[in-house]
Formats: sequence, structure tokens, C-alpha cells
Amino acid sequence: MPASLLLKQDGTPITLIFTKNYQHWHSDQNENVQNWCKHQHYLGSGALSIPAANGAISGIIYGIDDFSDFYISGVLASTLVKGVYTLDLSQLSNAELAENNLSKTEISTRFAISWALQAYQFDRYSKEADVGAQLSLEDDHCYAQAHAFTEAIYLSRTLINTPASDMMPQNLSLTMQTLAETFRGDFSEIVGDDLLDENYPMVHAVGRASENVPRLLELRWGHENAPKITLVGKGVCFDSGGLNIKTGGFMRNMKKDMGGAAVALGLAKLIMSQELNMRLRVLIPAVENAISANAFRPGDVIATRKGLTVEIDNTDAEGRLVLCDALTEADAESPDLIIDFATLTGACRVALGTELPGFFSNDQNTANSLMQSAQSSADPIWQLPLHAPYQSMLKSHIADTQNSTDTGLGGAITAALYLQLFVSKNTSWVHFDMMAWNTRALPGRPIGGDALGLRAVFDYLQQRYPAA
Ligand code: BES
Ligand code: ZN
Ligand code: ZN
Repeated sequence: MPASLLLKQDGTPITLIFTKNYQHWHSDQNENVQNWCKHQHYLGSGALSIPAANGAISGIIYGIDDFSDFYISGVLASTLVKGVYTLDLSQLSNAELAENNLSKTEISTRFAISWALQAYQFDRYSKEADVGAQLSLEDDHCYAQAHAFTEAIYLSRTLINTPASDMMPQNLSLTMQTLAETFRGDFSEIVGDDLLDENYPMVHAVGRASENVPRLLELRWGHENAPKITLVGKGVCFDSGGLNIKTGGFMRNMKKDMGGAAVALGLAKLIMSQELNMRLRVLIPAVENAISANAFRPGDVIATRKGLTVEIDNTDAEGRLVLCDALTEADAESPDLIIDFATLTGACRVALGTELPGFFSNDQNTANSLMQSAQSSADPIWQLPLHAPYQSMLKSHIADTQNSTDTGLGGAITAALYLQLFVSKNTSWVHFDMMAWNTRALPGRPIGGDALGLRAVFDYLQQRYPAA
């Protein structure tokens, strides 16, 4: 449990107001408080500690002007002095809440989740973990919701932040096993050379040069007869580029190349804890794209699980290779929906920047609903096109396709088109190309691994497959 959230404890109240109602609140205060606000040049935006007559802090006034932002508690969790705080929403009028399409429960939940996300610290290797300001909630439901979302996103973040030396395929495997045990799901895996016997040639080829042998991880959960949803996550535990080796700066952060797997596992945790009505399957090809005498090479032709042959144009376009075998397996069951998550291309972050996950889909209804969920859950994502004419850029002279193009132009699109070759036309499929990493600190988003887009996808799934 994140130490930053508590239940039913006393604390210093944080009073939320709409910034435009500041004067109204101000006129209700005693003269001391009015003067204090004046001398602090406080005009109703952000936080101000209010002194009691004896010099203690009687409460915090917190003015919000933008309720469209999810992270409404801003940086409070790390700027308020250590101690326990509670939430006072008595100043928010129902009329204004309705205007912003929000309920008090939704505001409390957003406040609590964003508080805990701001308080997140990756402290595995640091000397002392520090519990700072804590938020105590009154409402059990709100606490439970905040708890579930936070735990899921913390899981994704910590998996991403953990260095490759401690987060190899076997570590992802243990994480998935633990999840399966916690939620009474079924775990299975195919390890090392067994991948060849079981016909996952691409997962094997990409991962075979590593001492940490490649694996295909699988989790199943939920009622046998419920709608089948399959999540697939790119689990490249370190991406050196392979023989097409990356240069220093580009390799520096490649411990995060299992970010797709981390988001799939975080989302799976949330789905299971909220008991959505689905038959969930999670598939993670987990490999290290390493360099060794037996590494796969540019120019090699490798068969896929589906039978298509692929000429390796670039060993650094490895994510789509491990994903294509996993997608083939996902598709074989004809699920209701397949969603894959991957730190797939540098091109996607060039197109959208690092803070907006891109997605592609062969099913426009699902894409539209996802965009609506992104809007209502304030977790932005952006659709990119599966522009079919670009498929020809992947043409190989000697095999069914190449894994990458000569120019790299439209790189996120051509990567998605490559993946689309492995999904049947009549299977709904969504592909996320994401950064999984905050390059700058924003409220609720410390620098490091993150699961942007997870809440949007969960909102969509919850609407479509609500708990029974
Ligand atoms: N893991 C990278 C993509 C990546 C890089 C995501 C930086 C986020 C940040 C992927 O495996 C890769 O190296 N892709 C290449 C593909 C190219 C060789 C066609 C890329 O994007 O440069
Ligand atoms: Zn790569
Ligand atoms: Zn990669």
C-alpha cells in the first residue's frame, strides 16, 4: 500500500475551492486570516497554509482553476510539511461541480490518486525511504479505488524503473507468477529452446544471444465463458539494438524497453482487482536484445509463428519481431479484443512527444470509444493511422516482408502496419506505441517510468465489461 494514503484518520484539513470563488471564501474568514492571505499575495490559486491564533497551522486552502486536469492535487504531496491531511470539499457547490461534470466522489478519488502518484518514490537502491505528507480519506469506496489505481500504476512504474540487471525475463516471469497467485489466475511460460519446439521462432531469435534466456509468459484469469480480452506487452528487458547497436545516448534508457509489458501487467492488476467481467489473457514475450556470437543478424531471414518469413533489415527493430509471434498466438483464439502495448518506435515520440501515447486500431468504433474514455478519465492518448499504402515500404526482395524500412519515415505507422500482418481482419485490435517514461517532472508524474494511457484503457474496458 502506498504509505501516502490513509483511511479515517484525523489531520489538517485541505479545503478545496474554485479559484473564481476565492473572494467568497475570503470574505467569510476572520480579519487575521484575511490579512494573512493579503500579505502572502494569495489570490485563490494553489495552496496556502492558514495559521491558527496560536501559530499552528489550522488548515490549507487550495484553489483550483482547472478541473480538466486529472492531477488535481498537484505537487502538494511533496511540498506540504510532513503530517496527516484530510480533504474538505464543503466549499464546492453542486452547481459548479455539475458544470465541470464531476462529482465529489470523483474529485476525492482524483485528488487521492494524484496525491499518491506524486508521492511515488523508487527507493529500491537508496539509503532511506522517506514518508512525507499523508492524505487520509473518509470514504471507504474512494480509498479502495485510489488504492487499486495507485497499486497498479506503482507496479508499472517500479518494473520500468528497475535496472535491467534486476529486471530480466525471469524477473518479469516472477512478477506475473505473483499476480497470478494473488488473483487466483493461471500462469504458464515457455522458456529458452522450448520456444523453438512450441513454434515461437521470433521470440527465440531475438532473445537467444542473452544469458537471460527468452520466455513467453502467459496469464489467464476470469470466468471461462466471459468475453475474451487479450493484452500483449513488449517485454524487451534491455534493448542494446543488437548487432545494429545503439549509440550511447540512445541506449542509456533502454531498461525501459519492457514498458509495454509493465503497462500490460499494471492494467491486468487493476482489471483483476476490480473484477471486470472478462476472460483476461496476458501474453508477454520477454527477451533481452543482446549482442553475442549467436545473435541474429541484419539480412537473416527468420520464419514467424504465423509462417510468414521476415528479412531482418535492422536488429534494432526487435519489438515488432517478438510481438508478431505473441499477436499470432493471441489472434488464434479469436478474442473480442486484443490490445498490445509497446515502446515500439522512436518515431512515435517524434510525432507526438513523450507525454502522449499513440495508438492504432483496425476497428474505428473501438478507437472512438477509447478516445471518449481518454477524455472522461483525463488521460490523453492520440490515434494514428494504419495507412495501408505504406505497407509496400516493408517489401523484401527475398522474404514475405522486412522488419523495417529504408528511410524510417512514418516509422510508427510502418511498425504498426508490420504488426497488423499478424492480426486477422475480423479481430478487433488496438496497438499502443508509448514512451512509458517521464522525461520531465510534472504534477503526479515524477521523472522515470510511467503508465500514461493505462487509466484511459481501463475506463474503456470498465464501461464495456463492468464487474458483475
Ligand atoms: N525500443 C526502441 C524504440 C524506442 C526508442 C522507444 C526510444 C522509445 C524511445 C525500438 O526497439 C527501436 O529501436 N526502434 C527503432 C526502429 C528502427 C530501427 C526501424 C527506432 O525507433 O529507431
Ligand atoms: Zn530496438
Ligand atoms: Zn526496443
